[in-house]
Amino acid sequence: MHRWFKYKEGFSAQLVHSFLREFNLTPAQRVLDPFAGVSTTLLVAQELGIDATGIEVMPIGELVWRAKSNADQFDLEQLRKIRDWVGSTPPAKSKRAFPHIPITSHAFDAEQEMQLMWYDEQFAGLDVNSAMKDLLKFVLLSILEDISYTSKDGQFLRWDCRAGKMQMRNAKRIADGKKPFKPFRKREILQVQPAIVKALDLIILDLSLRGGPTSQTGEQELIIGTVLERLPRLGQNLFDAVITSPPYCNRYDYTRTYALELAFLGIDHEAMLSLRQRLLSCTVENKSKIQQLRQFYSQIGRVEHFDRVIKTIENHNALQEILSALRLRNRRGEMNNRGIISMVEGYFTELAFVTFEMYRVCKSGASVAIVNDNVRYSGEIIPVDHLMTDFAAQFGFVPEKTYVLSQRKGNSSQQMEKYGREALRKSILIWRKP
Ligand SMILES: C[S@@+](CC[C@H](N)C(=O)[O-])C[C@H]1O[C@@H](n2cnc3c(N)ncnc32)[C@H](O)[C@@H]1O
Repeated sequence: MHRWFKYKEGFSAQLVHSFLREFNLTPAQRVLDPFAGVSTTLLVAQELGIDATGIEVMPIGELVWRAKSNADQFDLEQLRKIRDWVGSTPPAKSKRAFPHIPITSHAFDAEQEMQLMWYDEQFAGLDVNSAMKDLLKFVLLSILEDISYTSKDGQFLRWDCRAGKMQMRNAKRIADGKKPFKPFRKREILQVQPAIVKALDLIILDLSLRGGPTSQTGEQELIIGTVLERLPRLGQNLFDAVITSPPYCNRYDYTRTYALELAFLGIDHEAMLSLRQRLLSCTVENKSKIQQLRQFYSQIGRVEHFDRVIKTIENHNALQEILSALRLRNRRGEMNNRGIISMVEGYFTELAFVTFEMYRVCKSGASVAIVNDNVRYSGEIIPVDHLMTDFAAQFGFVPEKTYVLSQRKGNSSQQMEKYGREALRKSILIWRKP
């Protein structure tokens, strides 16, 4: 079921399996994923009967979790009938508009959009249980990119040149005497009806291969909210393992890439801007969260912990050296966006809080696996893996090993031209709480 929704940032289920095995986790033990995404860790834990807690800030994660974690409750016969009805009934058009926000407007062909909303109404009106309703909403969520003029592309949404928005933008550029944008055409834009049938067929196939409910399920919960406030509210010594992957420090903006899905779930423009600020700082638009964190830690009566994490950051020579090097490059005019400096500072400050809290909530003997990528800005390579491991050691974890995969990604063409190609590591950090 991990293939039912395309979440490029997600773990492979095999990776989670292999860590649960490496850490010898058994039913009745509990694993944490503080950046749960589409709940790969929780779902694998469910399959093995291991208890699990996930935290995720994006509301998409909530619907994906509800739809997938209730897979055992689906009536497969009923699902087949719904699929046959969709396949054999020509779609009508709804008068209800897609709840667009500025960034998503014109993302669909007008006819496609009216059909999508018609299916949304039809599914909502079906006499089925809430698990089936969630699954059908999830199916619509999962086809949005395929039926739209957009394509998810790292830091932003790419727009097909057939989209009305691109045509208007190009007309304006030409009128202003500028060159039009280089045309981009998606390989295929699916029609709504076949896209739903395709998604339902895949789900039906996977559920029939699964062959009935799994015997062990354990207890799993997904908490929706920011890790910076949810993790500190959990009790101490709760978890036997952590398996996670935070957002990378790579300017990737989840709220832009998943704008269609967020808008479909009713997130309006204001809510979207506020969600962007709640994400771990990994875009140049993120503002410092220090004041907020200070206030929060004083509210929960743990100011001394706030002070300790801040001191660790301020006294961390390697991090401070990197920040000075970035400032210097900025003064020399080598940096194309000075927001990168505050992003890097915010990213490591917030990750230090998460690492401190992970130590607190782990039991003695717990193992941690964290996947992250190193990054490079204006030629300055930032060894995210070493920095995170060093914070972890300062908070009490024992660093055990680092699995390393060198990759070509992360070297933008401008960086390579100017500073040469350097392999940037993707690492999996393994720590243990003594
Ligand atoms: C690399 S992805 C993790 C994907 C996950 N391993 C999976 O298999 O789906 C990082 C996740 O962290 C989430 N995230 C970012 N900032 C967060 C925050 N402040 N609190 C909780 N989750 C956050 C993002 O929305 C994203 O889903």
